[in-house]
Amino acid sequence: MNLVVVSNRVARGKANEPMTGGLAAALLPVVENSGAVWVGSSGRLRDGAQMEPIAQIEQIGAGALALLDLPAAHYAGYYEGFANSALWPALHSRSDLIRVSHDDYNSYREVNAFVARALLRFQKPDTLFWVQDYHFLSLGAELRTLGVKSPIGFFLHTPWPARSVIDSVPNHRDLVNAMLAYDLIGFQTEDDRENFSACIRADLCLQVRDGIVKSRHGRTRLAVFPIGIDADKFAASAAKAASHPDVSRLRRSLHGEKLAIGVDRLDYSKGLVNRINAFDRMWTMHPTLLRAASLLQIATPSRESIEAYGNLQSEVARLVSDVNGRHGEADWTPIRYLNKGYGQGVLAGLYRSAQVGVVTPLHDGMNLVAKEYVAAQNPVDPGVLVLSKFAGAANELDSALIVNPHDIDRMARTIATALSMPLNERRMRYEIMMAKLRRHSIQQWFADFIEVLQDNEAQEAGESEPLPA
Ligand code: F6P
Repeated sequence: MNLVVVSNRVARGKANEPMTGGLAAALLPVVENSGAVWVGSSGRLRDGAQMEPIAQIEQIGAGALALLDLPAAHYAGYYEGFANSALWPALHSRSDLIRVSHDDYNSYREVNAFVARALLRFQKPDTLFWVQDYHFLSLGAELRTLGVKSPIGFFLHTPWPARSVIDSVPNHRDLVNAMLAYDLIGFQTEDDRENFSACIRADLCLQVRDGIVKSRHGRTRLAVFPIGIDADKFAASAAKAASHPDVSRLRRSLHGEKLAIGVDRLDYSKGLVNRINAFDRMWTMHPTLLRAASLLQIATPSRESIEAYGNLQSEVARLVSDVNGRHGEADWTPIRYLNKGYGQGVLAGLYRSAQVGVVTPLHDGMNLVAKEYVAAQNPVDPGVLVLSKFAGAANELDSALIVNPHDIDRMARTIATALSMPLNERRMRYEIMMAKLRRHSIQQWFADFIEVLQDNEAQEAGESEPLPA
């Protein structure tokens, strides 16, 4: 099999480079081991009318990275516009934040078509294409237009929202229709698959039976593949990171104080304001925790040219400063707030230094920080995960302390409970979660998706012709 994986963002495999998101970090080891070609954006743009793609190829492990310079004329409309100011807010149930023009939609389609043309040079007779995420909803349809007959799978890393929300995205019907050019569409959770099925039924008047939709494109399977991590590898890097200067300096600075940690892109879906309000409430309700427990919040700047992100950055900075101003002392800072990214190795050490991990998004496809926090713990004295019920990870990690991030009082109480949880209960919860992380690894996720894509192909070959257009 010759596998070609496509995503907007790629990771370059340098251990200390800051990681900018779950998808790139998750895919890196599997691409390195599988020998796949991973195609994505180089981060550079190409000027001019020349629309023929050229890829720069780099070796990563047994695989290869093919970096594309995307067209300058369409990049902003594609990435900041349609992908991140229409699809992202809608997929995270924030239709109030949708800001989009028809030109943005055209740019999104142009970039999808451009990447499809770039993929042709990687096509061989036994190629499987696997497209990742909301940036490329129409890429499969563009490949079919170019005559590609190979199996094409798609995995959505974000949630798929209720139909009434997706309804507010201009051109959503065209896009959902285009998505049916994929042979297999993978979701993080059963809820996402159900929401998508409801949308297919209502918008396209098509039936979904046993996870199969038949359309003019042929047959599309809808299935659930919760993404995982390599838990043992992450645990080993967390143990090793204890000697990293950033980690040992943090530990020395604590003087016996307990630490909670949050690590997020600065994104409105992550629930940062609610989380900080919960800590504020906790210190007010439990003054004994003043000086006894602090929060290290790493909030990596993201998509800064989009207004909603700029507003959030100011709002969170103001809130942190207000909470620190009210609860802090000359020699104690309640919230250590950092606006930068860290490499995976250091992050693993920081997670292991914290007695509580707070992962409290308002909506999240999976949230691999939750999984990484658990895997990073010292098995002899593990920390406690406080996890939002709205993260996909809550389906598996139900031995975390599950919270509703809109219920600030209860979240405050739950964080206080986590900070004082006895060792035997911490261990029991950790062991249950770690066993699940080992079972549902990133390698398993990768293998399961490819297997279903190949099986689906075999079954389709034995079935009747597609429906007429
Ligand atoms: O689906 C989520 C995702 O693609 C993850 O990789 C990451 O959380 C984020 O979006 C990355 O966003 P960007 O590439 O815009 O920084």
